[in-house]
Amino acid sequence: MKTMIRKSWAEPYKIKMVELLTMISHTQRNKAIHEAGYNTFLLRSENVYIDLLTDSGTSAMSDRQWAGMMMGDEAYAGSRNFYHLEEVVREIYGYKYLVPTHQGRGAENILSKILIKKGDIIPGNMYFTTTRLHQELAGGKFEDVIIAEAHDPENEFPFKGNIDMDKLERCIKKYSAKRIPYVSMATSVNMAGGQPISVANLKELRALTKKHGILVIHDMTRVAENAHFIQQRERGYANKSIKAIVKEICSYTDGATMSAKKDALVNIGGFLAINDRDIFEEARNMVVIYEGLHTYGGLAGRDMEAMAIGIRESVNDNHMHARVGQVVYLGEKMMSYGVPIVRPIGGHGIFVDAKRFLPHIPQHQFPAQTLAAEIFLDSGVRTMERGVVSAGRKANGENYYPKLELVRFTIPRRVYTQAHMDVIAESTARVFERREFINGLKMVYEPKYLRFFQARFAPL
Ligand code: F0G
Repeated sequence: MKTMIRKSWAEPYKIKMVELLTMISHTQRNKAIHEAGYNTFLLRSENVYIDLLTDSGTSAMSDRQWAGMMMGDEAYAGSRNFYHLEEVVREIYGYKYLVPTHQGRGAENILSKILIKKGDIIPGNMYFTTTRLHQELAGGKFEDVIIAEAHDPENEFPFKGNIDMDKLERCIKKYSAKRIPYVSMATSVNMAGGQPISVANLKELRALTKKHGILVIHDMTRVAENAHFIQQRERGYANKSIKAIVKEICSYTDGATMSAKKDALVNIGGFLAINDRDIFEEARNMVVIYEGLHTYGGLAGRDMEAMAIGIRESVNDNHMHARVGQVVYLGEKMMSYGVPIVRPIGGHGIFVDAKRFLPHIPQHQFPAQTLAAEIFLDSGVRTMERGVVSAGRKANGENYYPKLELVRFTIPRRVYTQAHMDVIAESTARVFERREFINGLKMVYEPKYLRFFQARFAPL
């Protein structure tokens, strides 16, 4: 049977419209990154050649999605597109109730406000920046219960998104179930490098949380990519469709927050989905304060229509093989040049290990921030820091010093070609060749919240 499996991931689409790229000179890039305070978030996108800042809201929509945009029902209340989206969320993910939001963090805000009381503990499989901040702003404290392998960029464990059940049990024992409103479980753990959680682990999580009456809330931003890895790596799943695996994953959880800007192939959108009627009623009421009426949640009707269509496209097996296949292609190319990356290769991008790339730069001189700036300088490829700057400060003001100090090369869906991947890998290899001559940075401006977006730096 094995020989029947098609290895090639050639794109299951053809190109109907293109967006022209520009490439500025090295001198102009030098000026641009200086003006941006050596923070790639502060660059103007017109100065960027290949944009790998994020896979969020940067996907190319299909002709069907664009056609859906023309079918927007822009009624203030009860838009037809809302009901279509609700139907798709029920069918594909299996969650009962839907509250649309403008993007993922809108859902995180509402959910955290409803479920978290001051002094609560929220265990999770590694943090995500906005998710943890909303938990903290609601009075909670995040507790990392991901397996230790996730913090080691060289460990080849196939499910580095798994939860360490012993750690979680100890956490429940220590704080008591009463102080734990839910476990915050993400599929395709972003900060670990896009690493998946296994179905076996999810089943254990369900059993343990059920015993203690604790909810599981699923950050399902990249659930279909996680399903792809389950299909590839977990025993018994090789012949199941991505669609079936996605639904199974969701069935072990009580609700979800979604940034539809990733998996779901739209430029804007998100939602909160939940099975509990009372939580839904509260969320449906609260969304009116922060986002908009419960049948649009900060979105236009056309956005909800594009999302409904995008969700269906996201669970197509051919789509997902090409999507992750392109990421793997880039990762393997980088490894062939000796560039140290997080292994196994994750679903949404390549995470270069800045600690090994620039071992002479200590973490307080921001090796990953430095490397992202250097890669932009070399070729106009825009990446982003996922290390000490992204980790931010604890409530007591101390810096978090995460084990992982990474530069993320995030691949937008259906946007770039294999030739672009070659250019990206070659540029990274060039910077790698001159790595000894690269110096670190100092932070000269630090905003209060989510500092990585707006902090400024200067060369040492
Ligand atoms: N959860 C995860 C796992 C995410 O990756 C993101 C966003 C969010 C929640 C928040 O969603 O942006 O729609 O409000 N990640 C983007 C990124 C920003 O670049 O990884 P949002």
